[in-house]
Amino acid sequence: MMMAKTFQFVCVLICFLAIIINIEACVKENATSYIDQGYYVEKTVVHNAVSKGAVCLDGSPPAYHFEPGFGDGVGKWLVHLSGGAWCTTVEECLNRSKSDFGSSNYMKPWWFQGIYSKTQSVNPDFYNWNKVFVRYCDGGAFTGNAEYVDPATNLHFRGARIFKAVMEDVLAKGLKNAQSALLIGSSAAGYPAMLYCDRFRKLLPNTPRVKCMVDAGYFIHVKDPHQARNFTEMYKAIVNLHGSAKTLPKSCTKKMKPEMCFFPENMQHKIKTPLYIAMSAFDKFQINTTIYDGINICIEGGNCTATENKLFREFRLEFLNALPKANNPKLRGAFIDARNHHTQVQGWWSPKNVTTVKNLNLMKAFADWYYDRNYTYVIDERDLPISAMNDIKPCDT
Ligand SMILES: *[C@@H]1O[C@H](CO)[C@@H](O)[C@H](O)[C@H]1NC(C)=O
Ligand SMILES: *[C@@H]1O[C@H](CO)[C@@H](O)[C@H](O)[C@H]1NC(C)=O
Ligand SMILES: *[C@@H]1O[C@H](CO)[C@@H](O)[C@H](O)[C@H]1NC(C)=O
Ligand SMILES: *[C@@H]1O[C@H](CO)[C@@H](O)[C@H](O)[C@H]1NC(C)=O
Ligand SMILES: *[C@@H]1O[C@H](CO)[C@@H](O)[C@H](O)[C@H]1NC(C)=O
Ligand SMILES: *[C@@H]1O[C@H](CO)[C@@H](O)[C@H](O)[C@H]1NC(C)=O
Ligand SMILES: *[C@@H]1O[C@H](CO)[C@@H](O)[C@H](O)[C@H]1NC(C)=O
Repeated sequence: MMMAKTFQFVCVLICFLAIIINIEACVKENATSYIDQGYYVEKTVVHNAVSKGAVCLDGSPPAYHFEPGFGDGVGKWLVHLSGGAWCTTVEECLNRSKSDFGSSNYMKPWWFQGIYSKTQSVNPDFYNWNKVFVRYCDGGAFTGNAEYVDPATNLHFRGARIFKAVMEDVLAKGLKNAQSALLIGSSAAGYPAMLYCDRFRKLLPNTPRVKCMVDAGYFIHVKDPHQARNFTEMYKAIVNLHGSAKTLPKSCTKKMKPEMCFFPENMQHKIKTPLYIAMSAFDKFQINTTIYDGINICIEGGNCTATENKLFREFRLEFLNALPKANNPKLRGAFIDARNHHTQVQGWWSPKNVTTVKNLNLMKAFADWYYDRNYTYVIDERDLPISAMNDIKPCDT
């Protein structure tokens, strides 16, 4: 009896040690080869934007974070519009104006990681690029252009002017001589990355390679009016409060209400510049807003009901239908996974932690597409969402 107990104990101990050693091997490998060395970058405030009326919600100048390129990256430029939902009422915008989402006075240095990493093994295709992270401080997805300043609150709605003024500043910093350029927009800024994609191309007439990417910002309009209402009403309120209508594509606004032109499926076909869409077919933000808030919770618990699964499947089909067609992946690339997550270029961008579909990871698929090495239009065939922790490259053992 005693012997058996001891034997059992030794067994457990050995197993335990084996696990520890295994973890240890992972730690070492992570530490030696693939650790993503993030770093803080100070803000660059665009003071002269104020005279152009290009200001944050509170009237302060807009800002971005800039890290210069090096080596053969000196002529390569990434301009990334940051996201962070929207403000649709004076109260919400006033609240934002007292934070870094509405005022450059509150902006602290930004943590650069993922596609911003300067470590070649972690970020092989963009590590040495010039990187510009544009702060989102207008609350209207860089579309606002209202002359009106709210007298009671001193709120400004000038996102479109911010985009213009920041571009002028960055062009003068060296973007105008770029050999390669990339405009990315994440989440709420996915829309302006599409809206301004051709303009970005025109600002760089001598740049051989200019492309755009939407990182989890292709929010669609679903057919069910009850499900569609949250996005539609929000966009309608943005158009009214921020004076966005004139900024939206005319080819769209002459056909439908301006709020409908915020939906990418109503305007993407007019974009002439190559565009890449990376997003989950069950993007956490889209399904929580469209279906109902919290529907994503069951995915991690693995206990979604048949009713929830039906809603997921219906949504996915509408989403895939609203994407650009797959017939010209050079002009419209896509990487559509099934994970429960939202945005990937900062967080999920490392060889050890990147979405992988059919043995192809997003970093490679996107870089191949960007550099004209291989054009892929990848769709995960699974019709139900999977946990955020699945299908990322695990620690090799
Ligand atoms: C105001 O901002 C705070 C934090 O910045 C947030 O928690 C709160 O929900 C906001 N309120 C409104 C009305 O938007
Ligand atoms: C969608 O709208 C409903 C009803 O107005 C609201 O209760 C819900 O919070 C909204 N969802 C989101 C995620 O905004
Ligand atoms: C749904 O997702 C959005 C975006 O990630 C998040 O802000 C919200 O808190 C989520 N809701 C729940 C209940 O998880
Ligand atoms: C689903 O699983 C999660 C995690 O185990 C749990 O927190 C949640 O309560 C479960 N939901 C239901 C409806 O059983
Ligand atoms: C992978 O990246 C996500 C997003 O940054 C992070 O939350 C998660 O902890 C990472 N996972 C691992 C295993 O490193
Ligand atoms: C392009 O990508 C596809 C999908 O991953 C792959 O099957 C094919 O071999 C690749 N072609 C080249 C030339 O790398
Ligand atoms: C090493 O990285 C992988 C992937 O990012 C992660 O799953 C694993 O937990 C990491 N190992 C340790 C012990 O930090």
